[in-house]
Amino acid sequence: MKVTISDNIRYIGVDDKTLDLFESQYVVPNGVSYNSYLILDEKTALMDTVDARKTEEWEANLKEALAGRALDYLVISHLEPDHAGSIQRLLELYPDVKLVGNAKTFSMLPQFFDIELDGRTVTVKEGESLSLGAHTLTFYMAPMVHWPEVMVTYESSEKILFSADGFGKFGALDTEEDWACEARRYYFNIVGKYGASVQALLKKAAGLDIAMICPLHGPILKENLAYHIGLYDTWSSYRPENSGVLIAYASIHGNTGKAAEKLAEILRQKGVEKVVVSDLAREDMAEVIEDAFRYDRMIVAGASYDGGVFPCMQDFLNHLVSKAYQNRKVGILENGSWGPTAGRTMKAVLETMKNVTIAEPMVTIRSTLKEENMADLEALADAMLA
Ligand SMILES: Cc1cc2nc3c(=O)[nH]c(=O)nc-3n(C[C@H](O)[C@H](O)[C@H](O)COP(=O)(O)O)c2cc1C
Ligand SMILES: [Fe+2]
Ligand SMILES: [Fe+2]
Repeated sequence: MKVTISDNIRYIGVDDKTLDLFESQYVVPNGVSYNSYLILDEKTALMDTVDARKTEEWEANLKEALAGRALDYLVISHLEPDHAGSIQRLLELYPDVKLVGNAKTFSMLPQFFDIELDGRTVTVKEGESLSLGAHTLTFYMAPMVHWPEVMVTYESSEKILFSADGFGKFGALDTEEDWACEARRYYFNIVGKYGASVQALLKKAAGLDIAMICPLHGPILKENLAYHIGLYDTWSSYRPENSGVLIAYASIHGNTGKAAEKLAEILRQKGVEKVVVSDLAREDMAEVIEDAFRYDRMIVAGASYDGGVFPCMQDFLNHLVSKAYQNRKVGILENGSWGPTAGRTMKAVLETMKNVTIAEPMVTIRSTLKEENMADLEALADAMLA
């Protein structure tokens, strides 16, 4: 995929369209890109490598862009293998390259590679700069904007922020699709737990004059930066992005699902414009997690199972805990045939979350939705309105 950055900054990343699951967990129907950039100046600097799955293709891009020149620096923003996976190969090709990272980078790097670091590293601290000639790189630490060693780099002559995994998106670069949908799924599932760290990074970025953001996955952002940065601010502060109710259900034989659909109908009749119903047993869990964070309200509807709740609901709630779900109103609907246990199981997890208000009443149905349950459904719907 040909991507233009500027005369002296080349995109040398690669698309991966055959990956089954990103991080062994996330479906990527349109693939994913591993972005890597080369800055050509008096000195040459490579901004990250790519996943080992794509080393060969990337190596060809790198050689073509260097056109016979030596490589002076490799800036390592992040050691996760989707970006650092080709470092060993790079050092075989360019044994004289200097590795630029922070103290944490170099303490973790030997865990991944057998590389002699002596005399090969340039250790940078917060706010320090490296001149390449006309281009100057300044480094800002972004600990836990995915991993502890993460740092971002600002190039001041072209006003580019190399943002590591921040502002990343699923989808290969030749995919035409809405940025926010797949960037949001990426953000909440991958970085979501670390909102405070992203907030800290956004505060640093606010002091920089940024014309372009070059992330490690997905498109280079050149326009509408206020929109993208604004969404990151909303997401990382755990503020809902939209008004609406997600109803996530876990149903074995379909009756809990029917109750969830009925509740959706009642909410719509009561004027809630956006109601999304998701089947946790079948839909992409990461997409449902994304919606849980997107909307200001959620209802969890689960069938009782072995004294607990049907496992896909337990899994969903575990994911929400892991991603620090908070600041939302949540309603509960349970189903059970002989001794319903789903409700209290779900409630116990929700009660561990920060600033989650549980809407009353919790609704219990016995096997199938009956006329006698309607008053309770109405009452729960009313409690979800405010
Ligand atoms: C393996 C298994 C375990 C179950 N465990 C419980 C239970 O502990 N308590 C209970 O009341 N119902 C239990 N049930 C019954 C279901 O929760 C109940 O039939 C419910 O109505 C199913 O709703 P659904 O039609 O949405 O699947 C269990 C069902 C299965 C298949
Ligand atoms: Fe990462
Ligand atoms: Fe990544």
